[in-house]
Amino acid sequence: MSQINIPILDLKSQYQAIKAEIQTAVNQVLDSGQFILGPVVKAFETDVANYLGVKHAIGVNSGTDALVIGLRAMGIVPGDEVITTPFSFFATAESISMVGATPVFVDIQADSFNIDPNLIEAAITPKTKAIMPVHLYGNPAAMTQILEIAAKHNLKVIEDCAQAFGAVYKGDSAGCGCGEAARDRILGSYVGTIGDVGAFSFFPTKNLGAYGDGGLITTNDDQVAETARMLRVHGAKERYNNLMLGYNSRLDAMQAAILQVKLRHIDGWNHQRQQVAKTYSQLLAGADGVIVPKFSEGHVFHQYTVRVLGGKRDQVKQALAEAGIGAMIYYPIPQDKLPIYLGLHAENPVSNQLGQEVLSLPMWPELASAQIETVATALKSQL
Ligand SMILES: Cc1ncc(COP(=O)(O)O)c(C=O)c1O
Repeated sequence: MSQINIPILDLKSQYQAIKAEIQTAVNQVLDSGQFILGPVVKAFETDVANYLGVKHAIGVNSGTDALVIGLRAMGIVPGDEVITTPFSFFATAESISMVGATPVFVDIQADSFNIDPNLIEAAITPKTKAIMPVHLYGNPAAMTQILEIAAKHNLKVIEDCAQAFGAVYKGDSAGCGCGEAARDRILGSYVGTIGDVGAFSFFPTKNLGAYGDGGLITTNDDQVAETARMLRVHGAKERYNNLMLGYNSRLDAMQAAILQVKLRHIDGWNHQRQQVAKTYSQLLAGADGVIVPKFSEGHVFHQYTVRVLGGKRDQVKQALAEAGIGAMIYYPIPQDKLPIYLGLHAENPVSNQLGQEVLSLPMWPELASAQIETVATALKSQL
């Protein structure tokens, strides 16, 4: 029996470190008797808007709801097309379909795992209304180019920031030939404040994770914010005056109180994640058969994801599991290959290939150097 036990993620060590703060915050909510929306949710929304530097932050039930409500608040309606990446969790495309629009998948760049901005314009049709980049694994997408294309074709941009709370846009890795003014305006901005709408998930495993479901919509647009606030409470501006079909998608006060505590720690945790990523990459440098992710200062490494070459990914994952190491595949089936979209879209060869190669290694802020070394050594022994 293996003595090693390094899971893909350990949430318990973080909870132990902030237990007293969390329990105080939760007890205050229990004593208040106010559990849905209310002053604690409002206070968290203010804190998170100030942190990100955005005018409006609207707490909702999940990241999926943030995408659905964000799309509707931006004016996306049935029949519209929304360009997105095939290489993401299903909620990305699902949200587009759930508002009655059609996701149009554009292939990714192998070095960023994100939508390839150079391929977007070819996918635009008269029905295209928006672009939904995903900052996958915590790595900001090529926002300068995306914004330029959106401006040129009068498209909205909704950022799927589910995996990227606290990630900062530091420029496009591919080096775009785009206007410096546009780039300077957004350089150094948090993701979720760059497009028309940002959508965040507070699912417990996320960089800023609640202890249940939760999500957030961000926008600088007053009209979008007003519509989103209505949509989360059954389309009502005031109670019982329901003006449109909406949702029951409210952030609860307990989660908001927990998130308010955790927001105070997020910079430290994201920095620790970057240190873990740097250590992995140093230990794996030069190893044949594996490609480590590109490091950028703004990347918050929700996942540390390598590419295992030579068709060996599945056997490496299996060997690591047998050695007591939890590695995961995010995502083995690109969205355009899932049953409801299968055969409807052009092939995306890079996404298809990376679906066969990606392997996410154990990653959490408190992961110890010795554990990182154990994982790296075990991985190298399997290449
Ligand atoms: C890229 C991406 N988009 C959307 C979501 C949906 O978030 P949630 O699980 O909070 O609905 C997730 C999270 O799982 C995600 O990883």
